[in-house]
Amino acid sequence: MIKVGIVGGTGYTGVELLRLLAQHPEAHVEIITSRSEEGVRISDMYPNLRGHYDQLQFSVPDAQKLGACDVVFFATPHGVAHAMAAELLATGTRIIDLSADFRLRDAEEWSEWYGQPHGAPELLGQAVYGLPEVNREAIRSAQLIAVPGCYPTATQLGFIPLLEAGLADASRLIADCKSGVSGAGRGASVGALLGESSENMKAYTVKGHRHLPEITQGLRLAAGGPVGLTFVPHLTPMIRGIHATLYATVTDRSVDLQKLFADRYANEPFVDVMPVGSHPETRSVRGANVCRLAVHRPQGGDLVVVLSVIDNLVKGASGQAVQNMNIAMGLEETLGLSHPALMP
Ligand SMILES: NC(=O)c1ccc[n+]([C@@H]2O[C@H](COP(=O)([O-])OP(=O)(O)OC[C@H]3O[C@@H](n4cnc5c(N)ncnc54)[C@H](OP(=O)(O)O)[C@@H]3O)[C@@H](O)[C@H]2O)c1
Repeated sequence: MIKVGIVGGTGYTGVELLRLLAQHPEAHVEIITSRSEEGVRISDMYPNLRGHYDQLQFSVPDAQKLGACDVVFFATPHGVAHAMAAELLATGTRIIDLSADFRLRDAEEWSEWYGQPHGAPELLGQAVYGLPEVNREAIRSAQLIAVPGCYPTATQLGFIPLLEAGLADASRLIADCKSGVSGAGRGASVGALLGESSENMKAYTVKGHRHLPEITQGLRLAAGGPVGLTFVPHLTPMIRGIHATLYATVTDRSVDLQKLFADRYANEPFVDVMPVGSHPETRSVRGANVCRLAVHRPQGGDLVVVLSVIDNLVKGASGQAVQNMNIAMGLEETLGLSHPALMP
């Protein structure tokens, strides 16, 4: 049994880790932290987990106790993993970080976007970006894994086949993305109030969202050169879900794009390339560790439209984190993750 610790267990990604790990046959959650809910039983705070973690209580983060775990997930705001990672890595514990702390390769770029100095630049050399569809081999031996963000997962999986094949004009890519409100976490904020977010939709951070450098970094690798990306996120009145509508100009109209996507993801257990003409819905992935994609070329022109949907809390965070754990611990990649989405 893999001994698991979770730092930041009261947030949405933390409780989603608990939900997924409750069904995992090879993992056992030993420690779950919260500074504000110390001593509270998990099932008292999250009744959906009654019967699963009845003896487990939130405790304050203790590096020594966490260091006795095989795997520690960080489901915390940025900066927290920076502060604790070196001490945990020294004990041989694997770290799977859901925050942005180790996603960018360049510490200076991270500082510019996050408005504070990078807290552990010396660890960047060993951090592996945890997008299995690109980095599976590196993840197998990684001790420090940076789980991709939600928008970056949906966007990269949609653009990668085109860019790897050199079939898109990489200088003019557009990602028009919509997210549900759980993407902003469980912390109270006016924008997440029912009266503000329901019956409403709006774009935000058009001049530059923090996920932009992460997406660009991944797309540059896929394209093998510079990329120009316009990324516009929107907040939509749903709880879970990301819908990314991606636009690119193809350089060769004769290529069968459906086949290109189907071949690229043929062996990927968590990427579903839907039949020609499909329109994937966010509810078709709600609760499931799946990215569903559809590729279109309206009126046979040179503009490709890729539709990509994920559940931000599953393939966009905690599910992808468990997928990384499975790979890094030498388990079947799909273990504990093969349940279908909720419907309706
Ligand atoms: N929500 C999403 O859809 C999503 C998707 C992908 C990635 N992420 C990333 O995943 C991380 C967690 O997101 P979330 O939405 O679950 O956040 P959240 O709902 O705001 O929860 C944050 C958790 O971190 C703990 N925490 C805060 N400051 C801490 C500190 N200094 N030391 C230790 N623990 C601390 C909190 O508990 P206490 O304060 O009680 O300790 C809480 O349990 C973030 O970095 C986020 O960007 C989120």
